[in-house]
Amino acid sequence: MAKIAFRQVTKGFFKDNGHFDLVLDGLNLEVGDGEFVSVVGPGGNGKSTLLRLLAGLEALTSGEIRVDGHPISGPSAKRGVIFEETLLYPWMTVRENVMFGPLSCGVDPREARQKAEEWLIFLGLKNFMDKYPHELSGGMQQRVAIARAIVNEPEILLCDEPFGSLDWITRELICDEFLRVWHRTRKTVVYITHALEEAVYLSQRVLVMTAKPGRIAKVVDIDLPEKRWEERGLRYSEAYADYVERVRAWFQEESCKGGRGPGEGRLPLR
Ligand SMILES: Nc1ncnc2c1ncn2[C@@H]1O[C@H](COP(=O)(O)OP(=O)(O)O)[C@@H](O)[C@H]1O
Ligand SMILES: [Mg+2]
Repeated sequence: MAKIAFRQVTKGFFKDNGHFDLVLDGLNLEVGDGEFVSVVGPGGNGKSTLLRLLAGLEALTSGEIRVDGHPISGPSAKRGVIFEETLLYPWMTVRENVMFGPLSCGVDPREARQKAEEWLIFLGLKNFMDKYPHELSGGMQQRVAIARAIVNEPEILLCDEPFGSLDWITRELICDEFLRVWHRTRKTVVYITHALEEAVYLSQRVLVMTAKPGRIAKVVDIDLPEKRWEERGLRYSEAYADYVERVRAWFQEESCKGGRGPGEGRLPLR
């Protein structure tokens, strides 16, 4: 049985003028237990909407989403989220931020502290546990956000462009950290990104969505070594470049179909 299954999921919003704005249109999707899947697609085509529906933060218009075979009925601690904005509590130290989730779930304070510290050390933040979020760089804050999500031992991690605001080098490093976390925990991950290289680098499968209204248009299986952070030349390998090229080709095809062709938005040449 699939860990996550979308069946004919449709979602729309009523606009102020009364028109119905269809965002997702009959979307089908299955993710296996422990799989790392990325979702890419043209901007504004419903990727964040898809993730919010799966997080249980919004209701469907029609269709259904099942997790472990059960329809979802709202947010659940089983599904952790990591967004682009870390939303750390500014008045708490790094350690307290990570302990907050387990403490709220009734975990013994000593155990919560031990778990929090274990993940912070794993993510290279040993010397920053007593700092406050504003004292950390953006990359470090996102590591705290990863620790905070994973310490609650969710079964599924939902990520919406989590590293989008980081510079590219930091982003590559944190992707390796995130892969190590995935490899250690084998959580099911659904990862939204507009960076096609990142999608290929992280995932076992990349799903390419259509332009709005969004559906899954293409699926690319990525057959690269699992411990990618140990493969030094991976980002420069032919196999990796081929996957990125394939995803890019599908992505461009879908973007063009939606009227967002490569030329759109450019100033006319005189
Ligand atoms: N709460 C909302 N109310 C009205 N329209 C929304 C809402 N959330 C998203 N939308 C619309 O849904 C479309 C897709 O948004 P989103 O899922 O954020 O796209 P993406 O993440 O792929 O860029 C956009 O046209 C946006 O205006
Ligand atoms: Mg989005």
